[in-house]
Amino acid sequence: MEHSLKIDRYCVMGNPVEHSQSPWIHARFAQLTDQTLRYERRLVPLHGFSASLRNFIDESDGTAKGCNVTVPFKFEACALAQHVSARAALAAAANTLSFRPDGIHADNTDGAGLVRDIERNAGVKLAGQRLLLLGAGGAAAGVLGPLLMAGSAHVTVANRSLDKAQQLVQRHAELAARSTLAACRLADVQGRFDIVVNATSTSLSGESLALPANLLHSGALAYDMMYGPAARGFLDWARTHGAQARDGLGMLVEQAAEAFFIWRGVRPPSAEVLQELRAL
Ligand code: ATR
Repeated sequence: MEHSLKIDRYCVMGNPVEHSQSPWIHARFAQLTDQTLRYERRLVPLHGFSASLRNFIDESDGTAKGCNVTVPFKFEACALAQHVSARAALAAAANTLSFRPDGIHADNTDGAGLVRDIERNAGVKLAGQRLLLLGAGGAAAGVLGPLLMAGSAHVTVANRSLDKAQQLVQRHAELAARSTLAACRLADVQGRFDIVVNATSTSLSGESLALPANLLHSGALAYDMMYGPAARGFLDWARTHGAQARDGLGMLVEQAAEAFFIWRGVRPPSAEVLQELRAL
C-alpha cells in the first residue's frame, strides 16, 4: 500500500474529457518503456481549472508530477504557470504542465507532435514546401511556430476573420525570417499548396469549409488535426481532389510522446503505439 502511494501521478484535464485517448496512450508508453506511473482522466468544471489543478497537486502528497491540458483550458494553463517554454509562450497556450520544486512549468507539444507525424510517420518533409494553415484560433496558434521552424518555405494562414490571421502572423514574424509568411481571408485563399493543414473547428461543429478545388498540388498532403468522424468531411474533400489525406491521430500520439519525454526523460516508441491505436 505504501509503495502504491509513491507512484508518480499524471492526468489529462479538460471539458469534455471522457473520450480522451491520453490515459490509454500514456499507460502504453509506460509499459513499453518500463516506467511506473499512473495516468488518469479528470473532468474539470468550466470555471474551475486552477482549483482542480491545485486539488490534484495537493491531494497527491508529492506524487503528482504533471498533467496534460485539453480544451478549453490551454490558455489558462499557460497563464498560470511560473515557467513557460518558448514554444508555449508563442502559442500563448500550454498542453503539458510539469510540477517541479520551483513551480509549474508550462510547455506546448502540439506543434512538435504535428511536425513529427507529418515528417516521420507520413514521410513528408516540410522543408521547402508551400503550406496552407486553415484557421487562426488556439489549435492553429499551437502549431504555427513549429511548422515554420521545420523550414516550410512559404506559409499562408487563412482564416474566416482576417484580423485573427494577421495577428497570428504578426506574432510569428521574427520566426519567419527565412520563409514567406502571409495572412488572408479564408474566402480569398489562392494558389497551390503542397501541404494543407485544417486547424479550424469546423469539423467539430459539422460545418464544412468552402475551399477552391485547385488549392492542392497533385499528391499534396491534406492534414486534419482532428481524427475520427470529425475529420471525415475535410479528408473526403481532399481525397476527391487527389490529395493524400491524413487525420490527427498521429499528432495526438506524437504530442503525447513529447510530453512523456518531458516528464520521464525517455522517448516512447510512438509509431508502434500509433499503429496499435489505429487497430483498436
Ligand atoms: P480551437 O482551439 O479549436 O482552435 P478556436 O480558438 O475557437 O478553437 O478557433 C476556431 C477556429 O476555427 C477559428 O480559426 C475560426 O475562425 P474565426 O477566427 O473566424 O472564428 C475557425 N472556424 C470556426 N467555424 C468556422 C467556419 N464555419 N468556417 C470557417 N472557419 C471556422
